[in-house]
Amino acid sequence: MTTEKVNKGQSVDNAITSLDKIKRPYAFLIIQEHFRRYQNTIEIVKELSHKKSNSNAVLIIQIAIIMIYFSTKPVHSIVNDSVEFAKNFKAPGYVNVILRSVLKEKDKFRSAIKEIKIGNEFKRQIIKIYSSKKIHNFIFNSLDKKPVNYQISYLDDTQAIYDKRVSIIDDLKKIKKQSWVQDIGNYECIRSVKKLIKNKNILDCCAAPGGKSFLLSSFGANVDCIDNQKNQIEKFKSNADRLELDLKIKKQDFLRSNFKNVYDCILLDAPCSSLGTFRRNPDVMLKINKNFLKSKNDKQALMLIHASKMIKPKGYIIYIVCSFHMDETIEVIDKFLKKNTDFNVIELQSDKLIKKNNGYFTNPLSFKKFGGSDIFYISVLERKN
Ligand SMILES: C[S@@+](CC[C@H](N)C(=O)[O-])C[C@H]1O[C@@H](n2cnc3c(N)ncnc32)[C@H](O)[C@@H]1O
Repeated sequence: MTTEKVNKGQSVDNAITSLDKIKRPYAFLIIQEHFRRYQNTIEIVKELSHKKSNSNAVLIIQIAIIMIYFSTKPVHSIVNDSVEFAKNFKAPGYVNVILRSVLKEKDKFRSAIKEIKIGNEFKRQIIKIYSSKKIHNFIFNSLDKKPVNYQISYLDDTQAIYDKRVSIIDDLKKIKKQSWVQDIGNYECIRSVKKLIKNKNILDCCAAPGGKSFLLSSFGANVDCIDNQKNQIEKFKSNADRLELDLKIKKQDFLRSNFKNVYDCILLDAPCSSLGTFRRNPDVMLKINKNFLKSKNDKQALMLIHASKMIKPKGYIIYIVCSFHMDETIEVIDKFLKKNTDFNVIELQSDKLIKKNNGYFTNPLSFKKFGGSDIFYISVLERKN
């Protein structure tokens, strides 16, 4: 099942590729909405059912509730199809009773599903990072903003991008050959290091599918790119070909590579929970748990140490994650700096980033005009000698 694939770590985009092409846009919307309103639908199920049921039956009910309120499919066919499907899990009666109860009180449950309920841990982490209530409220309200707007970056005229943000549907129709679509927070992180990277030799060690490498290159850096995922590398190469960019792109595991003293700068856009992309990928909100974060965190720390051994004296490591969780951001850098006293933190100039300890978070409120942004964390470390 598609939701299972997402729970195991795939993005919704990838998880639906096995579905019939015609069904994909509909499935995408329903699954996104399911994750976005997971807390709401689980509370409805709890209210209507006092006995413990199997998790597949509960999932069928949750998805059916979303379809009842967010699709134009006739409600009785949603119920019938769900009951039929529940036979696979020996729960047709249970699913039938709950869904008919929802239909009986359709208006009451409409208000229960309207306002997105945010998990406590998600709230706690945001409040830890941003001190302003205005920013908290902006972020919490942005969960319901659809479609999320992206921006278009141009290789020849990157300054113009702030003004070129329109809805994704329009953008994709107008997209020019030498341009690519990305989140505005992503752009701001790389823009904030523009002066540091000009004419420098940079290794982008987690580079695919290439968004940041394209920006580095358009800001005048000489970039070499590696990534250890074959399918990601293929996507990256085809993006670079379309942009007619002559980047060195190689499938390689950074942790097994030796680039000692080769580069002035290493960009470590580390694999992470992607919590900062919660508007586009609402499933990440369900993944804020210690085990999931620990697996990411161990790798982030390992990659940072490896980068520190490879970088030239006086060279920089740019550490970025699209997350706002303390474990993947502030704690990774603080722990590293405690043990590695031969590194300094570099100050960044941007009124769209907020400083916290030894790094910076994008401020989604500063992109209000464009509908907000994803949340990124960036910290730049300089090797003293
Ligand atoms: C956050 S994504 C990078 C996004 C990319 N920088 C961009 O802006 O388009 C993290 C990437 O790290 C790659 N990765 C994970 N472990 C790696 C390793 N040991 N060596 C190289 N790449 C790795 C993943 O395949 C993934 O593409």
